[in-house]
Amino acid sequence: MSLDQFYRTYSPRQPASARYPNQRSMPQRAPAPSPAPAPSSAPAPSSAPAPAGTGSNDILAAYRINEQPYYRSVADEVELYEAAYLVRMPMMLKGPTGCGKTRFVEHMAWKLGKPLITVACNEDMTASDLVGRFLLDANGTRWQDGPLALAARHGAICYLDEIVEARQDTTVVIHPLTDARRILPLDKKGEVIHAHPDFQVVISYNPGYQSLMKDLKQSTKQRFGGLDFNYPEHEVEAEIVEHESGIGRDIAKKLVQIAERARNLKGHGLDEGISTRMLIYAASLIQRGVDPLAACRVALVRPITDDPDMRDALDSAVTTYL
Ligand SMILES: Nc1ncnc2c1ncn2[C@@H]1O[C@H](COP(=O)(O)OP(=O)(O)OP(=O)(O)O)[C@@H](O)[C@H]1O
Ligand SMILES: [Mg+2]
Repeated sequence: MSLDQFYRTYSPRQPASARYPNQRSMPQRAPAPSPAPAPSSAPAPSSAPAPAGTGSNDILAAYRINEQPYYRSVADEVELYEAAYLVRMPMMLKGPTGCGKTRFVEHMAWKLGKPLITVACNEDMTASDLVGRFLLDANGTRWQDGPLALAARHGAICYLDEIVEARQDTTVVIHPLTDARRILPLDKKGEVIHAHPDFQVVISYNPGYQSLMKDLKQSTKQRFGGLDFNYPEHEVEAEIVEHESGIGRDIAKKLVQIAERARNLKGHGLDEGISTRMLIYAASLIQRGVDPLAACRVALVRPITDDPDMRDALDSAVTTYL
């Protein structure tokens, strides 16, 4: 099995410049803060961890964030997260799709100078996909840490995106890592990883999508601190859209007004409102010369509803504001 297949649920980071081509400035990261002291309850790592620095043998090099991901704070979430990280409290980011959860955790990992390993959870994911497995190669079998074990062993922030998509028998593997024990038993290997002092688990989910079958168990939820995310108020959202797309503030504001109109229809014919991500798409098309009405139809209206009446209502909102 190739490494690519094995790691299908997560991947090393792309250079930020490749992912945020419109970003106007890419300030370098502030000097990495000296490693935060481990909380008294966090045991020391059992085996010598990889150096926290960025030497050539840095096993987490691919997961380090060297350029600042742009994040516009909307309240006190940055300070709260920093405090949570200081005591290594596992964190849960809750909020609708496209409102900034992933960007926030990328920004925080950069700010704290910690590598970030992201896992896109899905219902086919097994505990072995997270923890690791023995692989067969020309020299016999060898153990390959999964993303959770890699993060725990070497000291990364492990971000489990859309955690509720994972089956509950998979989710429970994070339990011993997210309470005072901070351990990860590797049953198949006969090893217990004592989490590196820098290790933290962050999970995200969209509370709107949960059904009874898909909600997290209380025993999972109660291991985490929670931060609520939502679409920012309109001046801030326009600022984000402007920054991310390069569009002028006037059009950014109009796009936000359209989104606010659509968000009021949530639960009245729309399952979900227009997200900040969609506004950035629309703005980026307009910025590249696409007709604004066409850009909004493509990026804002068509993706979120197939209902002809709802499409008409949204199309007319677009025409009203643009
Ligand atoms: N506060 C913010 N600061 C900077 N950019 C933001 C902010 N909120 C949203 N964005 C922009 O919106 C885009 C979508 O945000 P992001 O991918 O973080 O959403 P998400 O909440 O993780 O969504 P999902 O639940 O679908 O994964 C980001 O790529 C970023 O450009
Ligand atoms: Mg996300």
